Amino acid sequence: MPPVPANCFAETVTEVEHYTDRLFRFRMTRPASFRFRSGEFVMIGLPNAERPVFRAYSIASPAWDDSLEFYSIKVPDGPLTEHLQRITPGDTVLMRKKPTGTLVLDALLPGRRLYMLSTGTGIAPFASLVRDPETYEKFETVVLMHGCRQQAELTYGEQLVAATQDDPLVGELAADRLRHYTCVTREDHPRRLRVTDAITSGRVFDDLDLPALDPATDRVMICGSMEMLRDSKSLCEAAGLEEGSNSVPGTYVVERAFVD
Ligand code: A2P
Repeated sequence: MPPVPANCFAETVTEVEHYTDRLFRFRMTRPASFRFRSGEFVMIGLPNAERPVFRAYSIASPAWDDSLEFYSIKVPDGPLTEHLQRITPGDTVLMRKKPTGTLVLDALLPGRRLYMLSTGTGIAPFASLVRDPETYEKFETVVLMHGCRQQAELTYGEQLVAATQDDPLVGELAADRLRHYTCVTREDHPRRLRVTDAITSGRVFDDLDLPALDPATDRVMICGSMEMLRDSKSLCEAAGLEEGSNSVPGTYVVERAFVD
């Protein structure tokens, strides 16, 4: 194995689960000195070259967890994922030492309801945040919206929500207050539409018996493809929300779901 770069941790894979031929998740050990805020991302690589390829991955586990979880796409011929999809427990994964990101509670102004808008692997940062008690300290209701092409691609999110509602630390908080809203676009499904259309048509508010987006009470976090971000941002702006950042908190925040 080539030497571990100076700014990296070398961690051991502990669990791998494949969902479809396009999606998998893995867990690895967490360095004792590594701190992050739920919703942040890190750069991940493999020790398979002198100059390893690194890609941004949202940490899918919450800040209190003693291991680190990641949810990944498998891109045929993707410089990292074509190798990463073959990892097994005991393998080493490199992680750069500094986490960062804007999908954090600190970047949002206080509010009543938090909408998490995701497509595909864009659910990963929200998998971290829905398992963090601080999310429920700050918001009365948390709506996790996830859109995928096919039903099978919703499995990770369905298992996540079931496990969260059963969790000894956050289960009671999440029981009635975490609402899961799924959409499928390329197969028969009771909600065959895009997550963005579920908002602009008002369907999600009817289905969940919630009022339409209101900048006084509602906050939005967005994570998906570039096109999804563009459309989601414009519906937030149309509803009167303003983009926030770590230095200037706002009423919505955005991060690209990194795909390669
Ligand atoms: P669609 O099937 O209509 O393209 P992908 O796997 O390509 O990232 O897509 C994941 C999900 O995101 C799919 O359901 C896809 O719908 C949807 N999607 C793609 N573009 C957008 C967009 N601009 N806004 C909202 N959802 C989108």
